[in-house]
Amino acid sequence: MAETLAGATATAPNDLEAFWVPFTPNRQFKAAPRLLKSAKGMYYTSDDGRQILDGSAGLWCANLGHCHPKVVEAVQDAIATLDFAPAFQFGHGKAFELASRVAHEMPGDLNRVFFCNSGSEAVDTALKIALAYHRARGDAGRYRLIGRERGYHGVGFGGISVGGMVANRRTFGPMLPGVDHLRHTLDLERNAFSRGLPAHGAELADDLERLVMLHDPSTIAAVIVEPVAGSIGVYPPPQGYLERLRALCDKYGILLIFDEVITAWGRLGKASAAEVFGVTPDLMTNAKGITSAHVPMGAVICRDSIYEAFMQGPEHMIELFHGYTYSAHPLAVAAALATIEAYKTEGIFARAASNFQYFEDLLHDCRDLPAVKDIRNFGYMGAIELAPGPEGPVKRTLEIMVEAFQRGVMIRVSGDTIAFSPPLVAEREHLEQMIGITAEVIRAKCG
Ligand SMILES: Cc1ncc(COP(=O)(O)O)c(C=O)c1O
Repeated sequence: MAETLAGATATAPNDLEAFWVPFTPNRQFKAAPRLLKSAKGMYYTSDDGRQILDGSAGLWCANLGHCHPKVVEAVQDAIATLDFAPAFQFGHGKAFELASRVAHEMPGDLNRVFFCNSGSEAVDTALKIALAYHRARGDAGRYRLIGRERGYHGVGFGGISVGGMVANRRTFGPMLPGVDHLRHTLDLERNAFSRGLPAHGAELADDLERLVMLHDPSTIAAVIVEPVAGSIGVYPPPQGYLERLRALCDKYGILLIFDEVITAWGRLGKASAAEVFGVTPDLMTNAKGITSAHVPMGAVICRDSIYEAFMQGPEHMIELFHGYTYSAHPLAVAAALATIEAYKTEGIFARAASNFQYFEDLLHDCRDLPAVKDIRNFGYMGAIELAPGPEGPVKRTLEIMVEAFQRGVMIRVSGDTIAFSPPLVAEREHLEQMIGITAEVIRAKCG
């Protein structure tokens, strides 16, 4: 155990080996770790005392910036007041307050909120509710779930089954049966360098018709998509695509699930992508921005009719055999209530939206940098896709991420795509700095 961290003692070893770091090349990372010790507003402080501008809102989640004082205070109060309250057969008032608050922010009759602890749990919960809903209505033959190629829906078995990122799927066996996938929506031939929603590709939603014809609509329970695909490297939906998908789901009695783990809570300028696009799903997942990452939390928001389908039978019977020990944990609830309050009172969504055009212009100014293959953006989601480097895919983009960190900016990379998702409180000079430094690094590494 070579590396030793500060704080190690003879009886309490503290080195880099024990922690199996998620979604990270462990050996490379442990040879030169990027460690963070504190955060405030738009910046992290690294272990070696440098200020790191957060260009990725952590992992698309710290929408309010870091350590928001009101959220910190609310969580501190909560931990000193009620550390835990079981959500099975018991409850605490603030969980109900939060559910009402969330429902109030969501469009249409998306009024019923099921709490969990992460985006992955929210996805699996939504898929289970969809299956159980059809059964509750006497339509148990609807068991198929439809995802989309290149989609990311977390890492549970449900999520990777409907997900479409190959590396997240290939090592984990056959996964859920009865799953199929729509075609992805990236079309560089027709849509490269689109600003905002690409003009071409609404007809890709009709791919659902192909699956309906193949499997028969009476077997299909739900379709799940990210309204704007995030983790794959920001794929905004073609104009009209989501509307068409909604219409087809209605036509065939299929539930539409929007996975809004990234897109909800301001990333597109409103509380949800559903509101931005004017397309209301039957179920919606949330996580990340709901607490602005201060405490883990996930949620599934359902239309009234879905909840009501379960509220049949004897009243002493549990209607849905599902839940987590930490569903509606008091700390997460406190963090979410304070976060939503801050979004509202500080006008955070409108503040972010007033910079979307500026963000778009800065990103598209990178078009002529070496190796740039495409630039995509919508709201505060932006991506620069590079051609693979001479050593093949991925390696050069990883080097760009490492070098940007050395120069004081945190960015995300996915394959050969660099992604930006600024905290919603970013000022214009922050956007200039995060994109400007990244551009310098691209020039240095690809020139
Ligand atoms: C759309 C989407 N769904 C689900 C997840 C999984 O969330 P978590 O990592 O909190 O499990 C993510 C995470 O990035 C996501 O982007």
